[in-house]
Amino acid sequence: MSDTSRTAVLVKPDGLQRGLIGEIISRFERKGLKLIGLKMVNLSDDQLSAWYVEHKDKSFFGDLKSFMGSMPIVSMVWEGIDAVPVVRKLVGTTLGREAEAGSIRGDFGMSQQFNLIHASSSGSDAKREIAIVFDTDELFEYAGVREAVIYADYEMADLK
Ligand code: CMP
Repeated sequence: MSDTSRTAVLVKPDGLQRGLIGEIISRFERKGLKLIGLKMVNLSDDQLSAWYVEHKDKSFFGDLKSFMGSMPIVSMVWEGIDAVPVVRKLVGTTLGREAEAGSIRGDFGMSQQFNLIHASSSGSDAKREIAIVFDTDELFEYAGVREAVIYADYEMADLK
């Protein structure tokens, strides 16, 4: 399995309050991605500091952490060939009002901070982020019966 085949997603507090959990899950399911982990959590300050380590020197770091820690978020792990870039494309660019129509942020968001959803930006970020929220026994391996009609046989090797 390649290192971009698993990606972490958080539905942020604004996505929860906007009632977009089902819509977001549905978009990933319809695309053909496989859900292998899902839970609702209150992220601690330590978890958020680790999650947003790349932003630790930014002026908005404190605001971002208090927003993300203000209520539960819904965390997920999705799997599929190139899941990291595929999910980033479905999510859209950071600023909601500029995000591409058809993407989640482009269809539902106007804001920069309230941009509804987080998606890992690389395979190594995905690995790090997944470990912040999920224990290994909270990630599930199961045969996906849809794979046979989602991927051609020659592509299946990339899922192993
Ligand atoms: P995301 O790309 O998921 O991860 C970093 C987040 O920081 C980003 O989404 C925005 O929600 C938030 N962010 C980025 N820039 C700013 C900013 N200038 N002020 C507040 N929040 C920001």
